[in-house]
Amino acid sequence: MSAEKEKRDYLDVTGGWLHRLRDWIDARFPMTKFWNEQVAQYYAPKNFNFWYFFGSIALLILVNQIVTGIFLAMNYKPAAASAFASVEYIMRDVNWGWLIRYMHSVGASMFFVVVYLHMFRGVMYGSYKKPRELLWIFGMLIYLALMAEAFMGYLLPWGQMSYWGANVIISLFGAIPGIGSGLEQWVRGDFYISDITLNRFFALHVVAVPLVLLGLVVFHLIALHEVGSNNPDGVEIKKHKGADGIPLDGIPFHPYYTIKDICGVIIFIAIFSAIIFFSPGLHGLFLEPANFEPANALKTPADIHPLWYFGPYYAILRSIPNKGLGALALLLSIVILFVLPWIDRNPVKSIRYRGLLYRGLLFVFVLTFIVLGYIGMQPATPFWAEIGQRLSEMYFLFFAVSWAYSKPRSRAYLVITFICVMAVISLFDWVSWVPSAAVLKMYSWLIPLVYSLIFLLLPALSPKLIEPKPVPERVTMK
Ligand code: HEM
Repeated sequence: MSAEKEKRDYLDVTGGWLHRLRDWIDARFPMTKFWNEQVAQYYAPKNFNFWYFFGSIALLILVNQIVTGIFLAMNYKPAAASAFASVEYIMRDVNWGWLIRYMHSVGASMFFVVVYLHMFRGVMYGSYKKPRELLWIFGMLIYLALMAEAFMGYLLPWGQMSYWGANVIISLFGAIPGIGSGLEQWVRGDFYISDITLNRFFALHVVAVPLVLLGLVVFHLIALHEVGSNNPDGVEIKKHKGADGIPLDGIPFHPYYTIKDICGVIIFIAIFSAIIFFSPGLHGLFLEPANFEPANALKTPADIHPLWYFGPYYAILRSIPNKGLGALALLLSIVILFVLPWIDRNPVKSIRYRGLLYRGLLFVFVLTFIVLGYIGMQPATPFWAEIGQRLSEMYFLFFAVSWAYSKPRSRAYLVITFICVMAVISLFDWVSWVPSAAVLKMYSWLIPLVYSLIFLLLPALSPKLIEPKPVPERVTMK
């Protein structure tokens, strides 16, 4: 029997019809071609670590949000008179409604946890740098769409925090000179947050923004597959190809990373389930107690704050007493992330080979972001307002120092930058000087001073602290 015939007989017994179906489809639609190009013959660096789990986990959560959202929409009523009760109905009377609702509400918070880790990985390994700038920008647009999606979704249960949180954020549009109040009214569709606002937020939350999100995720992945993945060493695997044109440090995405990602997904599902079944509100972090009270336009809660994932931006907004300037700082804090690839132009991508001080800088930035998140959820006392202002300064200083570390700088450049930074901060303090808070202001001034001394003046004295280490030509398997 010829080998060819033997193979054909074997295929006939073991699912030959499946192969014939595949061939039938392939003759009409590029199914196998697509699979091979995008998955089975997509060569990814062989040194991915656990930080590379979060992209696929984000995809999983996106699917979770869409599927559970569809089931919630089957029983939810988008009207001011019935929204709150319909959510209670889902929780108590709809079969498995409580599970679907918790999968959706915990899913929203976990989406942000995963996306923040995913973004941090990108910053840590310099994945936003050439040639991945557009991939990063698509990521940032996803992040913006995600924030809009979460903000509008939070109004839907029509609880006290839904109502008053939306009030605070929509009123920010009012800060725009000239068109502000008209724009604010246009967003609400009414003179106050009403049934009309709820209806349009529902439409945007369930149809418009998810469509935009899906489209952006597709663009994100197309851009990723065009340039190829970065890796923990930040070296380009396409630079070293074998005679067959395949990167020497690449392995096919399938089966290697499909299997590896499944391990990450299993760990994620274990954590996700534990939260859903044991603490879906996570002590007020994922579901706020005030939101179990129906919205009441006549009763303002003592403390209005957004959910944890908006905390850092809310703290930045409140760090400036002037509403318009606070809104501008908030806008700037997001816009600046878009242009990160053009701020940090250091040719060394991965943190593994950046200088010691850059590592410290990134660590302090993460800490700043977390503490800002905490402050954003605290009542606006003078103490927290002051610390929030100093940490907001540090948030922006991260970008200024990253710019300064982009290439070898002279001692004079670093000293002058230090003087300029402290002059701008002191000028701002002088303009916003309030005698009653003078002591606190003077003490807190030490925070940006110490920060700038460490990250700007210290490298002027010892340039070795920002010197990168030699970057290997090929990936390492640390
Ligand atoms: C719905 C949200 C998102 C999904 C589903 C998603 C999906 C993915 C996937 C599947 C990958 C490849 C696997 C991996 O590297 O982990 C990836 C890579 C990447 N993503 Fe996202 N992403 C999302 C949001 C974001 C955001 C918000 C940013 C940043 C602003 C971002 C920036 C990047 C970058 C820079 C890479 C390349 C990383 C590298 O090659 O080292 N992504 N994304």
